[in-house]
Amino acid sequence: LRLVVLISGGGSNLRALLERCDDPAFPAHVVAVGADRDATGLVHADEFGVPSFVTPWPQYDSREAWGDALLEAIRPWAPDLVVLSGLMRLLPEGVVDALAPRLVNTHPAYLPEFPGAHAVRDALAAGAAETGASVIAVDHGVDSGPVLARERVPVLPGDTESTLHARIKPVERRLLADVVEGVATGRIQLKESA
Ligand code: GRF
Repeated sequence: LRLVVLISGGGSNLRALLERCDDPAFPAHVVAVGADRDATGLVHADEFGVPSFVTPWPQYDSREAWGDALLEAIRPWAPDLVVLSGLMRLLPEGVVDALAPRLVNTHPAYLPEFPGAHAVRDALAAGAAETGASVIAVDHGVDSGPVLARERVPVLPGDTESTLHARIKPVERRLLADVVEGVATGRIQLKESA
């Protein structure tokens, strides 16, 4: 299964996926990594010899123009699945229309709990005893698509945003690899959402 992975930050989840794809028995490989900025996580692509591209958000005068540039950058790689793994940017409708349903996103909460860009902070602020990690199929909403996998993660006394996020990420990585494998083997069927 040909993957394009999109990031914005450190790319620790990307790195975990690259490592998993290194296993010849794993039925997917990352053909390219993209970012909306000069993300530090792009070094993981370099290290694994995977091509990368940047479509810098500030260079475009609209979300739609940025989206069109992103699609132009993705298209040549002919991905079977596009994975948003720490992309901190909402995709314009046109991009979702072009890529869905073969477009998934990882999220550090037990969706539909705590959608949005500050899921870990929001769970802490809510005093939740547990939160989670999720992988969803991306639709036009914010973290609102069909849940493909999700798992509870405990919140521990004294947790900070970073200790809780650090506990969530390994679960996210495992769920993401499971979903990728599921799509590759046909166990998971991604279909046009109604
Ligand atoms: C992940 O938890 C992802 O779900 C969230 O931001 C984090 C990205 O971490 N959107 P990294 O860049 O993979 O380290």
